[in-house]
Amino acid sequence: MKRWRFDTMALHGALEGMKPNTVSVPIYQSLAYPFDDVQHGADAYADAREGLFCYGRWDNPTVQVFEKRLAMLEGGEAAIATSSGMSAILLVAHHFCKVGDEIVSSNRVYGGTFVLFEAGLEKMGVKVRWITDPSDLGAWKKAITKKTRFLYVESPSNPSLHVADIRALADIAHGKKLPLVVDNTICTPALQKPFSMGADVIVHSASKYLSGNATSLSGAVVGKKELIRALRKGPMRYLGPALSPFNAWLLLLSMETLSLRMDRHSSNAMALATYLEGHPKVKSVNYPGLKSHPGHALAKKQMRACSSLLSFVVKGKFEDAVKIINTLELWVHATHLGTSRTIVTHPASTTHVALGPTELKKAGIPPTMIRVSVGLEDPADIIADIERALSKI
Ligand SMILES: Cc1ncc(COP(=O)(O)O)c(C=O)c1O
Repeated sequence: MKRWRFDTMALHGALEGMKPNTVSVPIYQSLAYPFDDVQHGADAYADAREGLFCYGRWDNPTVQVFEKRLAMLEGGEAAIATSSGMSAILLVAHHFCKVGDEIVSSNRVYGGTFVLFEAGLEKMGVKVRWITDPSDLGAWKKAITKKTRFLYVESPSNPSLHVADIRALADIAHGKKLPLVVDNTICTPALQKPFSMGADVIVHSASKYLSGNATSLSGAVVGKKELIRALRKGPMRYLGPALSPFNAWLLLLSMETLSLRMDRHSSNAMALATYLEGHPKVKSVNYPGLKSHPGHALAKKQMRACSSLLSFVVKGKFEDAVKIINTLELWVHATHLGTSRTIVTHPASTTHVALGPTELKKAGIPPTMIRVSVGLEDPADIIADIERALSKI
């Protein structure tokens, strides 16, 4: 592998060996790859070895460039692409756990992850021990039992922007010979490198910043070669959440501009967070780039910039938050984040509704919280839209 820097890898990485060499990676819209002879077929089937393509449910040349490029950007050994972020997390849980096992997870996670761990894994006989104050390292240590199979953290978290101490959690996990799994969706490798802080496995909802324009539902697991090969040979074959070649191609296009976009996302978010923090109708703003954020010092240590996700709590009632969202014109009201457009979401009634009132409270998500994924528009227009909406309450 050539020793390129991040932005060079984002453009040129993982093209070695591709014949003929091309500028845009070809879309191999084929799910089977004829074998030279029976031995070739047997090897391809048995090995899941790189370069021996077999069947589109577990390998494809276009998807493979995306996988290798993402692994390079994360500084990991290998990656496997999945049809969504949720299926990436499911593959990891399925790999490490069997009936009777446990996992220990921060409760500051995306709502879908919460439901997967709480309800989905429970159905498979796996118990989750939630850490309701993920900054309390003692609570993580206490929650680990003989049945624990991995520790899980999302940092920063959606939507409460909790910043977890990845190095400290990796040390705790390794002290018990357990892997630490980190969801790096919100930062992407352009802003945060969990492997350099001791993480063992990284999961992504590539649907977000890696895709960048709300076109491709996608995900990935990045980790050691043995893990990725086991996922490719095992659950990817019998569960089948494969990424389509076209979505991999779209991802490769978007990832060419990843760090440029993440820088602009971050500076726009900082401008909006600073504006909101000074607004008399705003009770609090969660953005790790602000000095007032409890994870600010840690964020500065482990993130190059703070990405585009922020949330704020309005003074007043649920109805005020509703009025603000309904009044916004430029901000797109949707359940998504990490796209070029500014997106506004009401987590308590959509992305995190499945937590229910008690767990929402524990996870720090009041009904007056508004989540924003700050886009790439002119920051003055982003601020003008919320200024107008806040003036209506
Ligand atoms: C942090 C995080 N992880 C995982 C997911 C799930 O990803 P997907 O929607 O691609 O399945 C999401 C979705 O919003 C997310 O925000």
